Amino acid sequence: MSSAKFKRTLITSALPYANGEIHLGHLAGAYLPADIYARYLRLRGEEVLYICGSDEYGVPITLTADRLGITPKEVVDRNYASIKKSFADFGMSFDNFSQTSRDIHAQTSQAFFADLHAQGLFTQRTKDQFYSAAQDRFLADRYIEGTCPRCKTEGARGDECESCGATYDATELINPKSVLDNSPLELRPTTHWFLPLGDWQEKLEAFIGKHPEWKPNVQQYCKSWFDDGLKERAVTRDLSWGVPVPLPDHEGKVFYVWFDAPIGYISATKEWALAQGDEKAWRTWWQDEETRMVHFIGKDNIFFHALFFPAMLMAHSENYILPENVPANEFLNLEGQKLSTSRGFAVWLPEYLEKFSADSLRYTLARNLPETRDTNFTWEGHQAKNDGELGNKFGNLINRVFTFTNKHFDGKVPEWSEEMMTDLDRSALEKVASDLEKWTEHMEKFEFKAAMEICVHAGQEGNRYFDEAAPFKVRKDDPVRCGHILGVTFQILRQLCLMLAPVIPFGMEKLWGWMGMKTDLWVGGWTEGMQPIEPGRPLGKSEILYPRLEQSDIEEEIERLNKMLEE
Ligand code: 2FM
Ligand code: ZN
Repeated sequence: MSSAKFKRTLITSALPYANGEIHLGHLAGAYLPADIYARYLRLRGEEVLYICGSDEYGVPITLTADRLGITPKEVVDRNYASIKKSFADFGMSFDNFSQTSRDIHAQTSQAFFADLHAQGLFTQRTKDQFYSAAQDRFLADRYIEGTCPRCKTEGARGDECESCGATYDATELINPKSVLDNSPLELRPTTHWFLPLGDWQEKLEAFIGKHPEWKPNVQQYCKSWFDDGLKERAVTRDLSWGVPVPLPDHEGKVFYVWFDAPIGYISATKEWALAQGDEKAWRTWWQDEETRMVHFIGKDNIFFHALFFPAMLMAHSENYILPENVPANEFLNLEGQKLSTSRGFAVWLPEYLEKFSADSLRYTLARNLPETRDTNFTWEGHQAKNDGELGNKFGNLINRVFTFTNKHFDGKVPEWSEEMMTDLDRSALEKVASDLEKWTEHMEKFEFKAAMEICVHAGQEGNRYFDEAAPFKVRKDDPVRCGHILGVTFQILRQLCLMLAPVIPFGMEKLWGWMGMKTDLWVGGWTEGMQPIEPGRPLGKSEILYPRLEQSDIEEEIERLNKMLEE
């Protein structure tokens, strides 16, 4: 691991809203990179806790509930179950995937609020907000529609106009109405609690300043917020769906979803600790300086993870650790266009997995992660990577070596040795070993795309060696040399397996087993994987790991997306 200062790593992925399914944009942003990293550290024998869960409060969920005629809790429970399943099928290796609508989260976030409140760190302010007399409640921006104060288009949303793109304060809307029942709205005063982030700016600047290694996108965003000066942020809302504010005379007031959501990482860790039978174990992960915390997010979440949540953690009277890194990704486009969940222009994970394999998608996304700029997913590109690299380079090499060895060498690793090494053998082994080293350096720096380039290079090297040494040509005349070549190739395969396992775990777990490895790949498999595979070891029977994608399936997907664009 990069620094001996730390004993363990706490990894989080942004809590997805429980208001719909996961799509490829989510995966490429906050989920796949985090899972690759968690698996990498486990492979290396590091102590890791990988935490996530669904973000279940907020206005969009109540809108969905109103539309479906069910309760918000029913909405989030349904979505939670479905998200949890598709994440599991995709190979996400969370240690806990919780829900923010659970009691443990309400208790944790209320206690967190109470701590800051008792220290007098919030300010209270009364502001005018829209109120529906017909419904007897204050309405959040998204419940409000009216005439745009700039371009005068009707049906503009509470905080922005889709027609002219203007953003404004809801109180500026002309003829404001409730989207729920068209009832007219009036302004009424309401009191809320605010976290004055300006008070924390100096400390936050010092904190970010200590991390020149963070990605430039994260540093730039922070710098521009610092330049503007951090403003106070409301931490409460007038809503019925949320964690109730734990103060007297606060009926109808709940936490602003961005106040409680990041605390969800803490509640999910507490829940995990309880399940381990060690209630206090969560503190090791949140309050011990030897824990290194890394938040994986998409770029739209930078403010909350690099500034807002760290300020909350600094403000708490107990000593919480701060993130060591916040590797935020840019966005993934689809067929050259922005993803749009409202238009249905997306590829949804459960639907993808009905037809295709998780490894195949993980591989393609990992090759194309939006680490430093937006990237583009196309079905044709996906097919090219699956067939041309995953299938042809990796799957094929693995299958050829196993099939050949099983057929001609009785399913055992043939005799190979240092003494029999030719320059060709040595050079191939050296190149792969050097790739493995470079790969490690990139993995430590969250440069997963660059790490993948190295894997591809090592795969090419493996194939080049196998074709050039050509065991199939020398088998009859020189079976000893033939066996030795296969033995050398197994040494290449075990290193490829280590490099690819975090990205394509389903296939590499199989390969690990076929190679007769004894340890669990994810409990420090690295140590065994770095040892030579000895002659005589019995091998498993291989199967085709990565079949080609059917042309008709790809065309169907492209057609579906084209239709979405026409609608
Ligand atoms: O942007 C989102 O999808 C949010 N639900 C992320 C929350 S991350 C964390 F703070 F909970
Ligand atoms: Zn407008």
